[in-house]
Amino acid sequence: MALPDLLAHAKLTVGPLFFLDMPSPMGRALDLVPLHGDYTALLRSSSLSNSIVRDNAQALFGESMIVQDGDEHHRQRLPWSAPFTPRGLAGGEVGGLVAEIVARHIEAWVRIGRVRVLDVTQHLTLELIFRLLGSPSGDLAEWRAQYRRLLLVVARLPVEFPGSPASRGERARTWIDARIDELLARRLCGGADGSFLASLAAASALGSRSMRDDHLRDNLKLLFLAGHETTATAMSWLLVELGRSAELFRRLQAEAEHVGGLPSSPEDTRRFPFATSLVREVVRLYPPVPLITRVVREDLEILGHTLARGTRVTVPLVEAGRDPSRYPAPLRFDPDRWRGRNVTPASSETLAFGAGPHFCLGYHLAILQLVTFAVAVALTCKARGKRPTHPSRRPRSVWFPVAAPIGASIRFD
Ligand code: HEM
Repeated sequence: MALPDLLAHAKLTVGPLFFLDMPSPMGRALDLVPLHGDYTALLRSSSLSNSIVRDNAQALFGESMIVQDGDEHHRQRLPWSAPFTPRGLAGGEVGGLVAEIVARHIEAWVRIGRVRVLDVTQHLTLELIFRLLGSPSGDLAEWRAQYRRLLLVVARLPVEFPGSPASRGERARTWIDARIDELLARRLCGGADGSFLASLAAASALGSRSMRDDHLRDNLKLLFLAGHETTATAMSWLLVELGRSAELFRRLQAEAEHVGGLPSSPEDTRRFPFATSLVREVVRLYPPVPLITRVVREDLEILGHTLARGTRVTVPLVEAGRDPSRYPAPLRFDPDRWRGRNVTPASSETLAFGAGPHFCLGYHLAILQLVTFAVAVALTCKARGKRPTHPSRRPRSVWFPVAAPIGASIRFD
């Protein structure tokens, strides 16, 4: 049964609080799922800790901000808050780089005529994040291969032998750490060169509470990971929905043509309200991170029950986006539900990006990338006299750890 159906079924049969048997690197784990309604409050609660991310995936995230709580989290995140704001992103000339890379990839897909969405969007978002963080494109294939190997560490198979997935993963980790150190050393020696990586490195060194070198490296590694898989799945669903509806595509194209170019900054996405609505609708219905798990660090009351320290709690973001009291006919893909609500969405409307202290640091960057993507698909297709097509049936999806359409292809006809 698909995850959203499973949650709905559980709510009907056992009520709004139940345990879910979840895969975890330590074997299987029981996570308590509260179908609670106020997920924002839950994610803001200081009674819940993110240390569980360290337990599950330290090889990936090291001691970066995502595994921290309280003061240490704040200390690591604060220096990077400014570069990730709309103003910081505009200053780092991120918009131009995003537009150039997105347009080039889409041009190639339209020329090929038929693409497997997840493969090509992953390739695109990997180039985006690597170029933003200063890695030359020539290295991309090697980085990609090393990242795939690193993911094997998280599988933590019980046996280790030379050449086993775990030992290959460990070698990949060493390779990646060394390359990130090299990138940083190059940027720091080269001084301020206006790149986004340079602005992050500079922000990390400012002030009396500057980021430690090992934390800087771990946080860059976090960006490489957090910044591509999520955006790729959202782009995939966006292509699928545009392929399923000629009418939505026509409206997107009309807006893109009317404006006549790609957004140059987060602020500039305001000129594309329909493209922005498409993006918001995609992440509502298909949140790339459907579940967020935390662990109780001090007794916490939920739905009349007191949860003991150590209880694993899973916040089902996917349920939040499908709540009929908030989103009537929730399974309908309907960008018009966002009409007039795009300027500053409420925290309940951006739940796909989390809430509270760990709210997605890359939120503005992700919206910029996705709106640019939608507009670039429209303009490129217009120039080539094509449109994306997909059978009207929605493709099957995997829901864990990210929500992605399986095996879906798009044709440009
Ligand atoms: C559609 C795209 C994206 C979605 C849906 C998404 C979603 C999320 C979610 C759900 C969280 C966890 C929030 C929590 O635990 O409360 C998160 C955290 C994070 N995201 Fe994103 N993300 C996206 C793109 C990006 C991008 C492009 C970047 C940066 C390049 C990024 C960087 C981060 C970082 C650094 C964190 C950890 C923040 C912290 O622990 O303080 N994300 N994201």
